[in-house]
Amino acid sequence: QALRDFVTGLPKAELHLHIEGTLEPEMIFELAQRNGVKLAYASEQALRDAYAFTDLQSFLDLYYAGASVLITERDFHDMALAYLRRAHADGARHVEIMFDPQTHTARGIDIETVFAGLASAMRMARDQWGLSSCLILSFLRHLSEADAFETLAQALPLREQYADLWIAIGLDSAERGNPPEKFTRVYAKCRELGFRLVAHAGEEGPPEYVRDALDLLHVQRIDHGVRSEEDPELMQRLIRQRTPLTVCPLSNLKLRVVDQMAQHNLARLLRQGLCVTVNSDDPAYFGGYLADNYTEAAKALSLQPQELGMLARNSIEASFLTANGKMSLM
Ligand code: ADE
Ligand code: ZN
Repeated sequence: QALRDFVTGLPKAELHLHIEGTLEPEMIFELAQRNGVKLAYASEQALRDAYAFTDLQSFLDLYYAGASVLITERDFHDMALAYLRRAHADGARHVEIMFDPQTHTARGIDIETVFAGLASAMRMARDQWGLSSCLILSFLRHLSEADAFETLAQALPLREQYADLWIAIGLDSAERGNPPEKFTRVYAKCRELGFRLVAHAGEEGPPEYVRDALDLLHVQRIDHGVRSEEDPELMQRLIRQRTPLTVCPLSNLKLRVVDQMAQHNLARLLRQGLCVTVNSDDPAYFGGYLADNYTEAAKALSLQPQELGMLARNSIEASFLTANGKMSLM
């Protein structure tokens, strides 16, 4: 409890969080009922029991199925507000939220509905709790680059209306077989438009994907990146450039990227001088929110208070906040 209180008290930012991954079974059932959506599971417990993942894809199948209950602006608002309340309680001062518009537009939900619901919750959290947040619109990499371009075109008319929130672009979903180079052109376009850029790389995929995310997509931050350790030259580059890695310990454990938390390379990466941060990824599916990720990693890896402080500091440094505490596009 002392450890948890210490962690909660650290001012920090969450930089790797998929809002669709915050849908708890209780809310999935509540929204299913509210919207008359049929679920493949008989109860919350039956759904929870299905959360026994063997790899990234086995998780993604359930994650996309869970998101099917999100229909109205109110649904997106309720989901986001529940997460923001939880992040605030965990001592987050700022959060950068990824969302997957294609998961919703493919089901006939307007992208306007998604933006409006998330934004109203984010503005409420800012006003009520002083918790700042921004949006990272993420492309699904198992879909085509043309599909990503189409999603960008649907979102761009909303840019001005959500200029205080939507400042970045991300890339997620099934990594292996969907390398960064598949999205070179759409990232070049987003860069030209002045968006900040991040991408998942080196979670299940090889260190080459991390290098290509940097060289071909020109991302400022790598989501996960834990497999970078397999390439010493890449490691030196990440240290030299201070490229942040948004590491998600409980996610890596649940998706079997590591067999045991004690084997996680978070502490090694930190002690070698990388700008590593701790995040929750999809907390409703992986058994813990932000403070749980710090606490579980600290216990398994014997992280010292000073190291926990460094992780929290890194999260502020790696965020898209500027010195005046505001977000900016450039
Ligand atoms: N979408 C949600 N969580 C993800 C993860 N950990 N990796 C890739 N895509 C995701
Ligand atoms: Zn992720």
